[in-house]
Amino acid sequence: MKEAAIHGRGHISVVAISSTGLFTPAYSISNKELVTSLNRYVAKFNDEHADEIASGTLDPLLPSSEEFVEKASGIKSRYVIEKERTLDPDVMAPHIPERSNEQISILAEIALKAAQDALQAANKQAVDIDGVLVACSNLQRPYPAIAIEVQDALGIDGFGFDMNVACSSATFAIQAAADMIRAKNARAMLIINPEICSGHLNWRDRDSHFIFGDVATAILLEHEDACTSKNAYQILGTKLKTVFSNNIRNNFGFLNRAAPEGIGKDDKLFIQQGRKVFKEVVPMVSDFVLQHLDELKIESGNLKRLWLHQANIHMNELIGRKILGKEPEPGMAPVILDEYANTSSAGSIIAFHKYKDDLEPGDIGLICSFGAGYSVGSIIVKKLN
Ligand code: COA
Repeated sequence: MKEAAIHGRGHISVVAISSTGLFTPAYSISNKELVTSLNRYVAKFNDEHADEIASGTLDPLLPSSEEFVEKASGIKSRYVIEKERTLDPDVMAPHIPERSNEQISILAEIALKAAQDALQAANKQAVDIDGVLVACSNLQRPYPAIAIEVQDALGIDGFGFDMNVACSSATFAIQAAADMIRAKNARAMLIINPEICSGHLNWRDRDSHFIFGDVATAILLEHEDACTSKNAYQILGTKLKTVFSNNIRNNFGFLNRAAPEGIGKDDKLFIQQGRKVFKEVVPMVSDFVLQHLDELKIESGNLKRLWLHQANIHMNELIGRKILGKEPEPGMAPVILDEYANTSSAGSIIAFHKYKDDLEPGDIGLICSFGAGYSVGSIIVKKLN
């Protein structure tokens, strides 16, 4: 199971992350634009319901504030696939027109861009890849798999399937793909995390309207022997955990039409108990990572970088301190959520993509995800070159 253990027994089967890829949407929404939009909606709602509010039968909606958003989360902006209708107080949802079955779907389109970036960085062609995993929080449709659509667009002769472990989709996919490579079921695997979080975000909800952004990331895994890219990382070990929780939930699904009374309700979008998530997930993640490091006989003090899930700056600061037993040095736990917001499964991979090239060969780091489920994924990596 563990690379180090396999190595120790002399059966060297080392899997490497050869490269990563990133697609960043063209539009960005600042906190100012976001809060202005929500506050326009709030003013209009309160105006239209003035009588009920005056009679005490309805609570007025409360406005949002830029100061709160940045202070509570660390988020300053987010990228989105579509901006105009998302910010229109009369719509407040992205407008992404339906496409014909002959056109590439939007999720496959952004996945493809990230995948092409990763292929190029790894000096690989479609012919070198055997499998595609599309691993993300929100899949556009049940079938055919987005992964098979991407596989077709790239011209890969092999297999593909979709998987969803919410914010931990990427790390869970890394373990799945690494295991397939070790088992010789694939030579190289492409993992892609297309996250159009703007589609599941309730832009009218003051408590959560600032949380998410859109992006796509890709990760190319292969045998170390086949790896010819610069800045590749050997996977030293992977460890996953899930514990059921209702504190982050989305009840959207194919059975919604069987219960029409629930269609359009808030629980068909992202909902969470943010405070509870914060309190429960921080110890769960830090204990889990420390246990993983212990199993691999790696001192946490030897970690040179923490590429953490990007949901909340305070959560990351606390997890960083708990794992390292001290304040992380500047740059040790890179932050991208200020610019990208929470991009679900892609967050830790964006951080890895942007802040992996400056480490020295032999340096050890942690890619770590956490989120709905609850789920935690810990991937310990060592820089190869
Ligand atoms: N603008 C202004 N004030 C706001 C606001 C907004 N948009 N949203 C909430 N508030 C107010 C609340 O009404 C509350 O006021 P009160 O103290 O007078 O009651 C106060 O701010 C604190 O609200 P709360 O919801 O408790 O905020 P918080 O400090 O817990 O921060 C999160 C909210 C979501 C940023 C934080 O809980 C979090 O990030 N949790 C982890 C979430 C996470 O990682 N989820 C995983 C998702 S995949």
